[in-house]
Amino acid sequence: MAPRKFFVGGNWKCNGAGDDVKKIVTVLNDAEAPRAPSVKVVVSPPFVFLQQVKGLLRPDFAVAAQNCWVRKGDAFTGEISAEMLVNLQVPWVILGHSERRALLSDQMISLSGKFPRKIVHNLTFVADKVAYALSQGLKVIACIGETLEQREAGTTMEVVAAQTKAIAEKVSDWTNVMLAYESVWAIGTGKVASPAQAEEVHDGLRKWLNTNVTPAVAESIRIIYGGSVNGANCKELAAQPDLDGFLVGGASLKPEFVDIVKSATVKSSSA
Ligand code: PGA
Repeated sequence: MAPRKFFVGGNWKCNGAGDDVKKIVTVLNDAEAPRAPSVKVVVSPPFVFLQQVKGLLRPDFAVAAQNCWVRKGDAFTGEISAEMLVNLQVPWVILGHSERRALLSDQMISLSGKFPRKIVHNLTFVADKVAYALSQGLKVIACIGETLEQREAGTTMEVVAAQTKAIAEKVSDWTNVMLAYESVWAIGTGKVASPAQAEEVHDGLRKWLNTNVTPAVAESIRIIYGGSVNGANCKELAAQPDLDGFLVGGASLKPEFVDIVKSATVKSSSA
């Protein structure tokens, strides 16, 4: 099977006002980043900047939306549908980001491994979004991850397996799905998971997929890590065998994003 191509996503979140869009894109366009085939780079500005960024960005980098609606567009004020992203030729979408899950009060409550009805509902909601976006031809970065409380309760694998299971129940073709393991306690906190902690979960997810989906999906799916990734910690993380790239928040707004993209070379040199 072909090696999994390293992937670096930049999630700008709710940033990009004023001159920021131009500044960030200029840094990316001027960067001497490793090119395809060794790494795929996708940046995710807020919806309103998607078209502008797509127009300005170097052709070897792509754009992603940060969310989309769970089904066909209709009377859902403030939502953006998968069809609209397809119309704009936006190829990727991030779904189930923990900040979105928190807005839906999804999965933020720990019940020592037990999932109440509301949480099960919200797991399904994210999974439905994944399935619908795929049906429209989008590629999906599906985010999963445990809270600090869940980690401390020893339920990390149980939590990420439940999140992945919800997706597996709705998705049969995994070709266009990537999992972003983002430990919630590491997002925006400067508290990055250690390479060993990240690898343990990525390896556990691959084992789960091997048993519950197919060995081929377990082998081919990209599982990327997110949570306080920066220019200083990316190389050691990138060297982990089951870690196929990053979803970067804060550092994706800074020139060090280019260093994170370059960490892909850790993989090619060990391949
Ligand atoms: P962070 O965010 O890199 O700022 O921690 C990661 C994410 O939310 O995807």
